[in-house]
Amino acid sequence: MASEMLTIGPVVVNHFSVVTLLLLLLLLSFLFITTCRRRHQSHIPGPSFLAGLGPLLTYARFIWTGIGTASNYYNNKYGSIVRVWINGEETLILSRSSAVYHVLRSAHYTSRFGSQKGLECIGMEGRGIIFNSDIPLWKKVRIYFSKALTGPSLPRTVGICVSSTAKHLDSLQDMTDTSGHVDTLNLLRAIVVDISNRLFLRVPLNEKDLLMKIHNYFETWQTVLIKPDIFFKMGWLYKKHKRAAQELQDEIESLLEIKRKIISETEKLDDDLDFATELIFAQNHGELSGDNVRQCVLEMVIAAPDTLSISLFFMLMLLKQNPDVELQIVEEMNTMLSGKSVENTDFEGLTVLESFINESLRFHPVVDFTMRKAQEDDNIDGTKIRKGTNIILNIGLMHKTEFFPKPKEFSLTNFVSTVPSRFFQPFGCGPRSCVGKHIAMVMMKAILITLLSRYTVCPRQGCNLNSIKQTNNLSQQPVEDEHSLTMRFIPRTMQPQHSQL
Ligand code: HEM
Ligand SMILES: *[C@@H]1O[C@H](CO)[C@@H](O)[C@H](O)[C@H]1NC(C)=O
Ligand SMILES: *[C@@H]1O[C@H](CO)[C@@H](O)[C@H](O)[C@H]1NC(C)=O
Repeated sequence: MASEMLTIGPVVVNHFSVVTLLLLLLLLSFLFITTCRRRHQSHIPGPSFLAGLGPLLTYARFIWTGIGTASNYYNNKYGSIVRVWINGEETLILSRSSAVYHVLRSAHYTSRFGSQKGLECIGMEGRGIIFNSDIPLWKKVRIYFSKALTGPSLPRTVGICVSSTAKHLDSLQDMTDTSGHVDTLNLLRAIVVDISNRLFLRVPLNEKDLLMKIHNYFETWQTVLIKPDIFFKMGWLYKKHKRAAQELQDEIESLLEIKRKIISETEKLDDDLDFATELIFAQNHGELSGDNVRQCVLEMVIAAPDTLSISLFFMLMLLKQNPDVELQIVEEMNTMLSGKSVENTDFEGLTVLESFINESLRFHPVVDFTMRKAQEDDNIDGTKIRKGTNIILNIGLMHKTEFFPKPKEFSLTNFVSTVPSRFFQPFGCGPRSCVGKHIAMVMMKAILITLLSRYTVCPRQGCNLNSIKQTNNLSQQPVEDEHSLTMRFIPRTMQPQHSQL
């Protein structure tokens, strides 16, 4: 099939638009699939097969509306377990908590799915952690991530988050425009990437330049993740994306070069080695390849800027839309912090803040689905699952359709009573859960406390979560046009005691 495509590609290009070409080739490849594959009779709800038209249409919806948007569409239309096709592969979308919980905790779904060529393009195929489906290698790598993101490293995190946030707030004017509005999303990104560097890499770097490369890498990621193989043969389309991925990989490689130099010049290293140092040692001992080390560091560096900074941005928006909640948080903060520094604060006691964070992650998530693959035949809630089936866990929709007293509203009452874990999984759970889930909570709390004790923020007039443009491809993100994401930062009049931070 591939060689046929190759010859068709360049010939047709001169005459048709890219879209027409794509459609034509998709149709061809699906006709091919339908003749080659035995038709699968299924009792699972979802669009029908229709001699191959069903797979074509569902795939087209995923490509054109984004994975998140398409998943919500199908769950809303067909129910909490739906069968569709992505690139001809059978794919289940689950939003029912019992089914989601089953997959999360099972050892048979530790693999993910995505275009192999797409993952190769961004260096994630068989490397790193996030989309690495080489299970033995993924297990080995995940240990390094766990070590850096849990346990003893958590206390150090608070101090770094506080000082990094304070440093960026001190030079707020650098990110303020002439009308007094702060480019808030980029401020949060700068804070978060600085924290990640100070925790995991510890190399001097140009924040702005790195953030731009991270942004472009993410764009490429969501563009290539489920594209058909033919996309990667269309040089003119693909080249730009390939370059964006390469630029971040090169940047990380050069940061690692600096790191290796620092290590070799240091007489005695600390007892608790940072993430990058541990990986470089693993490479020196032949445990991990150089390519894998670079990819792991890359993924550690992008993880927080791609998720946490946007979560915090949504939280600041939500705070202004719910002034009573802001009042409660500030009161709790003043009580808990009186006379203490943030570093010495008992985070466990900040229940209003934690409910607010939980409710924000529930009501307006950044990551609202996760992609898995069945490695064994299985049965979920009476539905037979065949080995190799793609699985999309639609956690975002699950949070809005089950258990919560006010599922469609933002309200702290949703977290007044303890929520059983099967109903609330913003980070997933089980063997392939978010390895940064604990540190992410600590980071969000430390950054929010530091920021909110100095400023109250005010989005541009008329801008709220409903009015700003958003996409839901790989994750839910605001569209960055000129002004809608900026906010005014108003110093709090009553300076709390810890304002020296
Ligand atoms: C608000 C912030 C965050 C949210 C909502 C979030 C959410 C998630 C979710 C839902 C997954 C997929 C889990 C699954 O498939 O079951 C994931 C995976 C992952 N997250 Fe996070 N995350 C956040 C922050 C972070 C941070 C700060 C880091 C690291 C510094 C991180 C590192 C990772 C990694 C490495 C994976 C892939 C794990 C694997 O495949 O083994 N995340 N995250
Ligand atoms: C999905 O992401 C790509 C690349 O970032 C973007 O060009 C496209 O507009 C997005 N699609 C949707 C429907 O949001
Ligand atoms: C917030 O959610 C986590 C699960 O992610 C849960 O363990 C915790 O108890 C929740 N906190 C509150 C205050 O509801």
